[in-house]
Amino acid sequence: MEAAVRTSGLRKEFRGTVALQGLDLVVPPGSVFGYLGPNGAGKTTTIRLLTGLLRPTSGTAEVLGLDVASRPDEVQRRVGYLPGRFVGYPDLTGGEYLRYLAALRGGVEWSEVDRLADRFELDLARRLGTLSHGNQQKVGLVQAFMHRPDLLVLDEPTTGLDPIMQAEFLSLVGEASRSGATVFLSSHILSEVEAVADTVAILREGELVRTATIPELRAQVVRRWDVTFVHEVPADVLRAIPQVAEVRVRDRTAHLVLAGSAEELLRTVAPYGVENVETHETDLTEVFLRYYTHEEEPWRVA
Ligand SMILES: Nc1ncnc2c1ncn2[C@@H]1O[C@H](COP(=O)(O)OP(=O)(O)OP(=O)(O)O)[C@@H](O)[C@H]1O
Ligand SMILES: [Mg+2]
Repeated sequence: MEAAVRTSGLRKEFRGTVALQGLDLVVPPGSVFGYLGPNGAGKTTTIRLLTGLLRPTSGTAEVLGLDVASRPDEVQRRVGYLPGRFVGYPDLTGGEYLRYLAALRGGVEWSEVDRLADRFELDLARRLGTLSHGNQQKVGLVQAFMHRPDLLVLDEPTTGLDPIMQAEFLSLVGEASRSGATVFLSSHILSEVEAVADTVAILREGELVRTATIPELRAQVVRRWDVTFVHEVPADVLRAIPQVAEVRVRDRTAHLVLAGSAEELLRTVAPYGVENVETHETDLTEVFLRYYTHEEEPWRVA
């Protein structure tokens, strides 16, 4: 099957500022693709290029097999797009605004709009200008999902949503994905990306620094172990184990940072009399943060 999104040397400059430097990206159909990066990394720029709202300085973008530059209207009809700063017309009610968009776009069953509004507990009779930020965001989400698009491109979709609505959003993404849609979402919320994405790309200063599956990233997660010995801690022995990246000793306990398999550690310490081993789960946040900062080998603990 063709890629849902394919970019080749996609580059965007704004009067001297390079926002995106020759991006090569392939998003497989049916995947949930998390697009991460610090402020100003170029996420929104990428999304606006994918939806035909910006023209690239050079390079190409293909979405659902369509060349974005030559067929922007068709791309915009077929993609469900949530802009980073969603604003509708303040004087229209949510219902009026969605009807207007549905008429423009075509292919919308109103029962789907009602279903989505129900899921988000959104009152479609209220004027957009009178809605809270989070409730306006829900209108943005409804319009992105309402025509059951094959590709959803969502720029920080959970901005302003309360935790219950964030969870509702994540289940919608899961359902869309199970029914075959591809979801491309930018985010700063690592837990949400971890919960829903199968692949993540990390962008920094307009450049892709890493694309990986969640299990691949997990494999890089460093683990913290506290090993308590019956007698003294054999610190030098521990430091000589290649997978042990850090050793701190307190009384009879060694606080270790483990980057890699624990096999050699366990084999090596056994003869020294181990009283207790405690392991601490770390999450992906740590891995991501290392990519966000300027570290060459993010999984290494300095
Ligand atoms: N219309 C514009 N004119 C000039 N510079 C722009 C324009 N849009 C974006 N930029 C610049 O391009 C770079 C990338 O911005 P972009 O909005 O894509 O980042 P982002 O990853 O979405 O950040 P955030 O997490 O803050 O939303 C930034 O340096 C930004 O200042
Ligand atoms: Mg942005």
